[in-house]
Amino acid sequence: MPFGLVSAWNKRRRSKSQDHIDPWIYKPAGCWQIEDQSHFVKRRNHGTSVFTLKEMEEATSSFKDENLVGKGGFGKVYKGTLRSGEVVAIKKMELPPFKVAEGEREFRVEVDILSRLDHPNLVSLIGYCADGKQRFLVYEFMLNGNLQDHLNGISVAKMDWPLRLKVALGAARGLAYLHSGSALGIPIVHRDFKSTNILLSANFDAKISDFGLAKMMPEDQEMYVTTKVLGTFGYFDPEYTSTGKLTLHSDVYAFGVVLLELLTGRRALDLNQGPNDQNLVLQVRHILNDRKKLRKVIDPEMSRSSYTIESIAMYANLASRCVRAESSERPSMTECVKELQVIFYTNAKARGIGMHTSSRMG
Ligand SMILES: Nc1ncnc2c1ncn2[C@@H]1O[C@H](COP(=O)(O)OP(=O)(O)O)[C@@H](O)[C@H]1O
Ligand SMILES: [Mg+2]
Repeated sequence: MPFGLVSAWNKRRRSKSQDHIDPWIYKPAGCWQIEDQSHFVKRRNHGTSVFTLKEMEEATSSFKDENLVGKGGFGKVYKGTLRSGEVVAIKKMELPPFKVAEGEREFRVEVDILSRLDHPNLVSLIGYCADGKQRFLVYEFMLNGNLQDHLNGISVAKMDWPLRLKVALGAARGLAYLHSGSALGIPIVHRDFKSTNILLSANFDAKISDFGLAKMMPEDQEMYVTTKVLGTFGYFDPEYTSTGKLTLHSDVYAFGVVLLELLTGRRALDLNQGPNDQNLVLQVRHILNDRKKLRKVIDPEMSRSSYTIESIAMYANLASRCVRAESSERPSMTECVKELQVIFYTNAKARGIGMHTSSRMG
């Protein structure tokens, strides 16, 4: 819808509901006066629905505890069923007053960006609800929750190596798509890539979530200088942290950290360890290209028969390049996708597994 028409439509909707609560209605980024993210108006084909508070309550049986599936920095996440019968995840914004402005901003960026993206490795935004001060985001429901829970969290069955490679490859494809700029005509940096933001479908297809911190990077601008460094400890690109310069390679660093979590089964930041062993990258970086020592850091809970040392060595080498301190020395996400494909097939071939299992790659 052209810009003028959108504002006219929104005005009409506003005047209709004037004596009711004034809802927040999705507008292209250009209308919000928050930074310069207004370079495009391309929208994804299937629209994002606007829900009422009543629909959110009905879907979750008034946010019953038994429907709670998780809790994050933005608020609680509930499993819900829409009137259409579709099963969804509903994220309810619950923030202390001093964080509300920041939350509102992330909410709008999430809706604006995710409603225009469509890729099998990005979580789908089905809709949102903005009623008075209440904010909800409605996503496709991901049956297997987040990746971290499968590595070192609540999940009992541990993932084998081909499944971990499939997840790494899916997440890499999602990031490569964001970085390519093919969706919106402008590359996007995710800025909060981490194992809890990789969600897994019933079939263990990986989908990236949480775009609230995402930033669009105009082609002619390879980096964006910020005064406020945003993201999550354990995944911070050291160059971005020390200089405030954000590039697509900041996501590559975070991707490297997730590769290491998949390999070792350890957390990116483990506050239960001593001060020198808390950070996963610092713990293992020096041994990633040493085959003998490498064996010691492989997740002991991963089935030994599921991997070959050859494929582990290739994978560790890729991870070591992703977490290089110098951002320009890291590979691109497209290169990561290609290498992970080779690693997957190297492992499958050496284990004598044919095409029937490689279909698990998705
Ligand atoms: N679409 C979804 N489907 C299923 N579970 C989800 C979905 N979105 C989020 N969750 C669950 O809720 C948890 C909290 O999500 P979130 O608020 O994004 O916080 P965080 O990313 O810090 O974990 C996730 O870790 C995940 O387990
Ligand atoms: Mg999340």
